Amino acid sequence: MEDQAEKLREIMGRKKEPDESPQVTGQSRGREARKARIITVTSGKGGVGKTNVSVNMALAYARLGKKVVVMDADLGLANVNVMLNIIPKYNLYHVIRKQKTMREILLETDYGISIVAGASGFSQIANLSDEERQNFINELETLSNADIIIIDTSAGVSRSVLDFIAAADDAVIITTPEPTAITDAYGIIKIIASEYEGLNMGLKLVVNRVKTAADAKKVADRMTNIAGQFLNLKVDYLGFIYDDAVVSQAVLRQKPFMVIDPKCKASLCVQHIVDRMEKSEIRETAGFGNMLKRLFGRPS
Ligand SMILES: Nc1ncnc2c1ncn2[C@@H]1O[C@H](COP(=O)(O)OP(=O)(O)OP(=O)(O)O)[C@@H](O)[C@H]1O
Ligand SMILES: [Mg+2]
Repeated sequence: MEDQAEKLREIMGRKKEPDESPQVTGQSRGREARKARIITVTSGKGGVGKTNVSVNMALAYARLGKKVVVMDADLGLANVNVMLNIIPKYNLYHVIRKQKTMREILLETDYGISIVAGASGFSQIANLSDEERQNFINELETLSNADIIIIDTSAGVSRSVLDFIAAADDAVIITTPEPTAITDAYGIIKIIASEYEGLNMGLKLVVNRVKTAADAKKVADRMTNIAGQFLNLKVDYLGFIYDDAVVSQAVLRQKPFMVIDPKCKASLCVQHIVDRMEKSEIRETAGFGNMLKRLFGRPS
């Protein structure tokens, strides 16, 4: 087991060098020391805006000159490709089943970002076997020449969502101001807290579909306070996105809202969120390091 873990660490190029400081900022992090920043976007309740946030954050990153891949890890109901009006021939299913490599299924879009299509209607995949999981990690590594990998997950907690969260440098939790969405977001934060004790990842909150910044702040304060008080967990409030009619129009037209109207309220919010993300710390032991620790670092 240890050999395997060591080999994976080498593949990932993530072995800690003696001169590496434990935490560096997104701006100053050396490209050789670390590769792609992995951001997993998740939520407790469904339909709160994960796919819209994932795709449009990717566009905002691309505007900053970053090379971005959006991976649709909703293994039951894939929809990143639908949102972009792309009909993929192959998807994550083929990768996990070793029929294709990640690079073979990677699709360029017209928007300067690449996507990995999800595996629609394949619910068994929700729980990957150890071998499939390991194959998936190896394949994920082949994308690491990207600057940013955004993983759009399904709502709620399944083994695979937890694995995708484990692979992340940052877990971005989306909620709306609705009490049900808030309760479910807290639920997922609680599970992350118990699953990943000792793991080092940035937990970040985005409040979507708000009427005012003050409404969003209220939701965020409540959430971050409860997480701090009851779970001893630091959740960073990353920002909010206004409820904006352009979003549903964009979904209907199968184009990102950042493309339909880069200056609409929702687009400006997403750009702001990405700016904040860029300024936030990346924890040196997060990401693949977390994944390895989860897979090999403790008894199952
Ligand atoms: N900021 C917003 N303003 C207005 N409408 C929004 C906003 N964000 C999301 N929506 C609406 O919510 C719908 C669901 O969004 P989206 O598909 O991104 O959610 P999701 O969390 O990915 O859903 P699922 O859990 O099914 O994967 C969109 O089609 C859009 O109509
Ligand atoms: Mg979705």
